[in-house]
Amino acid sequence: MKDVVFSGIQPTGLIHVGNYLGAIRKWVALQDRHPCYYCVVDYHAITAPYDPADLPRRTLEAVAANVAAGLDPDRSVIFVQSQIPEHTELCWIFNAVTPVGELQRMTQYKDKARQRRESVNAGLLNYPILQAADILLYRGTLVPVGEDQAQHLEFAREVARRFNALYGETFPEPQVMLGDFPRVLALNDPAVKMSKSVPGSYIALTDEPETIREAVAKAVTDTGPRTGNEMSPGVKNLFDLLGAFSSPDTVRRFQQAYQDGSLRYVELKRVLADDLVSALEPVRRRYRELLARPDDIRDIVRNGADRARPVARATLAEVREKVGILRV
Ligand code: TRP
Repeated sequence: MKDVVFSGIQPTGLIHVGNYLGAIRKWVALQDRHPCYYCVVDYHAITAPYDPADLPRRTLEAVAANVAAGLDPDRSVIFVQSQIPEHTELCWIFNAVTPVGELQRMTQYKDKARQRRESVNAGLLNYPILQAADILLYRGTLVPVGEDQAQHLEFAREVARRFNALYGETFPEPQVMLGDFPRVLALNDPAVKMSKSVPGSYIALTDEPETIREAVAKAVTDTGPRTGNEMSPGVKNLFDLLGAFSSPDTVRRFQQAYQDGSLRYVELKRVLADDLVSALEPVRRRYRELLARPDDIRDIVRNGADRARPVARATLAEVREKVGILRV
């Protein structure tokens, strides 16, 4: 049977090159081979502190940025979670088969709960259940995500197994698909990964050329005396980016220079910045065009919901029947 691809997108238009190389590039490629569902998860987003006045805009921007990056609304089902109420309905049913202890042991929950100063909301605890519902509603079997989501995926498999054991074979167990690109590190601090919450650490796909040049120029390279021929993490990070955005010739030339000790970082950075600027130029342009026509983005979202809805309804009808919910 053909794999069904599902992935969730946080509602933000800020996609950095780490997100792109780690996941989105793969989502784009999968569209050629599989039915794909890409869902902007606004109901997940409200479990963290946020501004309600901003969320609709962030949701539209997330759609626009991902389409600009290569998700194709004709081939993939691109939609917004809250448009399909079956997500939350299936989530409720899964709530009823999930032991609380398992949720409390999730790493991401523990990390986030520890950071919270106010009390922790139940949505944060139940976050992985909604994520499992997202995937299983479409009987997703292949879930391309970053490594930080591996535990949530293992949990979704457990939900599928538990539901099947209680109510009969219904859901396939979704497989996690991890990226093969090395972790992209923060430009300003190669000890941690690139993060959209730290300005200077990232390059966004939609950044202006001057912003890109400045961030690359300031990138931390050597942090201490060179030991042997091992690259420092900052230099390796720049070479990884060069490998992704520059020609093989360029990469070879700089690698050679690194080997014989003649490499000048200013030059490496200048070439990398130029190549990033030209590679990202079409993405930035498409993003601007889409944002200027919010009705087109809404059409994409409506059309995606129209394609997601019948699948979601059919799954939920089957689930309600199995769970013993009255039909009148
Ligand atoms: N939790 C995911 C993240 O933070 C987003 C997400 C929600 C997701 N539902 C999903 C990812 C379903 C994959 C499948 O990135």
